[in-house]
Amino acid sequence: MSNFVFNWIVGEGERRRLAEILEERQFEENHQTETTKDQNSIETDVLELFMSANQPVLYRQKHVGALKKLLTEVLSKDFESLDCSRPWLCYWILHSLEILGERLEDKVYSNVIDFLAKCQSPDGGFGGGPGQYPHLASTYAAVNALCTIGSIEAYKVINRERLYHFLLSLHGEDGSFIMHADGETDLRGIYCALAVAKITNVYTPTLFEKSEDYVARCQTWEGGFGGCPGMEAHGGYAFCGLAVLVLLGQTHLFCLSSFLRWLVNKQMRLEGGFQGRTNKLVDGCYSFWQGGSFPLIHAILTRQDKICNIQHWMFNQEALQEYLLICCQYPQGGLLDKPKRKSDAYHTCYGLSGLSVAQNSPKPIVIGSPNINLVKNVNPVFNLVQSSAVDALHYFETLPLCNLKD
Ligand code: FPP
Ligand code: ZN
Repeated sequence: MSNFVFNWIVGEGERRRLAEILEERQFEENHQTETTKDQNSIETDVLELFMSANQPVLYRQKHVGALKKLLTEVLSKDFESLDCSRPWLCYWILHSLEILGERLEDKVYSNVIDFLAKCQSPDGGFGGGPGQYPHLASTYAAVNALCTIGSIEAYKVINRERLYHFLLSLHGEDGSFIMHADGETDLRGIYCALAVAKITNVYTPTLFEKSEDYVARCQTWEGGFGGCPGMEAHGGYAFCGLAVLVLLGQTHLFCLSSFLRWLVNKQMRLEGGFQGRTNKLVDGCYSFWQGGSFPLIHAILTRQDKICNIQHWMFNQEALQEYLLICCQYPQGGLLDKPKRKSDAYHTCYGLSGLSVAQNSPKPIVIGSPNINLVKNVNPVFNLVQSSAVDALHYFETLPLCNLKD
């Protein structure tokens, strides 16, 4: 058993031997708690899958089939579950398909465009469904879905002038953004507002006044970012905080070394996937929320001349791919949080986005056959497929800012 080798790696990189993986079981120090019991149980599940796995294969066609079926349901008039998250579902599904290299018929895209147009509020921004109040999260999702479709018809849905005023109405004096009128504040707000403002070219410095200071205040003693000042560091907010500082060009305002120390320690030693916060369990969605921060860190350090010609990200890219391909694929299609769970659109989107990050370092690393497993490269700041981000930025950069008065 100890000589067993996971002989799947194409390209450079450390191979994980089963013997090495087994050594990574948690050490309970003779003190069992609910947390250590849960961790033991997931380690057992993951090891069982690792031991019985052959060459890891991406079930591309299964995922495509499941995603197309779900899209039809989301667009139907009778759709009920997650009724206030329908732009999210459109984004998660369309972005997942794009990562898998699957384009849909024009008619299907037109149906999505018509649906998202109905979710746009007369006051700017998008709600979670037709006629619902606008919300920053559904606005980010709708804009990203339209940019993934990538046609002029899709781009033209976005009323930029009203979007600008919607964003402005949510901006607080301390630089934070509330998620919706009278809503809560956390780092998702600044990230969603800034991502859509940048990609649609409605960004102005006034609109994000003091936002970088607010983000800096969210860095915790552990090194990651919490949702608000004083909150626990968490992968979802860490990604939002870092992406905001990158988009604002203000990366000198946080402590990169403590962030990186926290981030690398969120990759689980045995499972290979990431946890969202200290002492919690691995979850496929953090493959992107945590994994997506590595290309951003790489870009910052490269720009500062601190790393030169390093071709890989600073985490174990093979181990993350092992977790995603062996433990997170639902046989009927879609990706999941952890073994024994079912797939859903959210975990499919962020699992595939994380798989893309894990493969597409400057020198790519793909476990299994690259012909079968390689997926499209995502732009980590917006979490759009790179070509979708570039096309959208090109389109909107030609449009004027002149009607956007603060
Ligand atoms: C904890 O869930 C989850 C959170 C506190 C929020 C996570 C935030 C994001 C995923 C970022 C969202 C970003 C955008 C752009 C909207 P939990 O306690 O169930 O999970 P855990 O046990 O893994 O911490
Ligand atoms: Zn999750």
